[in-house]
Amino acid sequence: MPDLDPLLFGEIDPPQRLLMGPGPVNAHPRVLRAMSADLLGQFDPEMTGYMNQVMALYRPIFGTGNRWTMLIDGTARAGIEAALVSLLQPGDVALVVNYGRFGLLLQEILTRLDVRFETVDAPWGEVVPMEAIREAALRLSPRVICTVHGDTSTTMAQPLDGIGAIAREVGALVYVDATATIGGMELSADRWGADVITGGLQKCLGGPSGSAPITVSDAAADLIFTRRHDEKGIRAADAVDGSGRRIGSNYFDLAMIMDYWSEKRLNHHTEATTMLYGARECARVTLAEGLAARYRRHKAAGAAMSAGLRAMGLTLFGSDAHRMTNVTGVFIPEGIDGERVRTAMRDHFEIEIGTAFGPLAGRIWRIGAMGYNAMKHKVLITLGALETCLRAEGASLPAGEAVPAALAAWAAVMEAA
Ligand SMILES: Cc1ncc(COP(=O)(O)O)c(C=O)c1O
Repeated sequence: MPDLDPLLFGEIDPPQRLLMGPGPVNAHPRVLRAMSADLLGQFDPEMTGYMNQVMALYRPIFGTGNRWTMLIDGTARAGIEAALVSLLQPGDVALVVNYGRFGLLLQEILTRLDVRFETVDAPWGEVVPMEAIREAALRLSPRVICTVHGDTSTTMAQPLDGIGAIAREVGALVYVDATATIGGMELSADRWGADVITGGLQKCLGGPSGSAPITVSDAAADLIFTRRHDEKGIRAADAVDGSGRRIGSNYFDLAMIMDYWSEKRLNHHTEATTMLYGARECARVTLAEGLAARYRRHKAAGAAMSAGLRAMGLTLFGSDAHRMTNVTGVFIPEGIDGERVRTAMRDHFEIEIGTAFGPLAGRIWRIGAMGYNAMKHKVLITLGALETCLRAEGASLPAGEAVPAALAAWAAVMEAA
């Protein structure tokens, strides 16, 4: 056997990077501390008590009174898959509101599920007008309208007021991927009329990836329970299966997951205790700050980042009217190698900014300020570092304009409160 690399035995000791990309970002220290707490058995009353607390803590964050508000174990994508596989079955029809990579991800998952779908699209950098969604929904009569609240690939936020009314008009449900906005931009499940919304911890909630908060309306839960088929090994003697088709995934079967999170505590997976501690602390930090204050802080950070980048003479990507507050797309200046700048930011300043996907790869950077990193000093440090790295690469920029512009924009948002 070859000798093992001695580094294999080293303790994990990551560099102190400042993560100013589109997520993940640095976790709040309180979240990391909560995640080092001791483990509990999954039916220990302390543990099931924590599960109930998590349900209560996430309702205001989703803007809902939904009973079924809980966690899916896995990254944000696990929440998306659980929602889609449980709401839709092969042959169903869905409508996808598509304006970026994560609208394409919804389509990819629907394709695997053999769901028929149509899309209503906007070019990257724009959002889909509500009237276009309505026209498509009237034409298609989908079972579910699927959309993304903030698509980090384009940095655009899709307005969702009115989508529920359209869905009710055509007898559909609404699914929303809010991974990139939860805890940073307002979610209003009840006001929007959104039936299922899923998120992740690693962006505006300031936690690590690995847990996907989800909320499910009663109407969606009713539909999902028609597909309930309890596993043989755990089903009660008097259990009655739903009349609908069995959900096409065991791990992401929301009927069984809801039974596990209910007072039945019907065993499904083993709840990821450490992730639940982290998710609980993310929510506690968020609610202690106050949702309105937290959304304002993200808005100030986004405004400061945008103002600073513009003061540097750079051009922002996408529509000003629909910008996410927590991540900003900016064109890489002509003649500059974007990857060299990102490497210099990391090597000299320990700062990570984001690259881009698909048609935007090599054309824009995505610079985030979210969760624990949506802070004035972190925005200012990032702008100062970027200016230095761009100059070192030969870009001619106005000197020293970015930081004061960002400071002024931050103050304007905070003082308007
Ligand atoms: C809008 C959106 N949806 C889904 C995801 C996927 O999340 P995860 O990587 O946690 O599975 C991301 C991650 O960047 C995202 O921004």
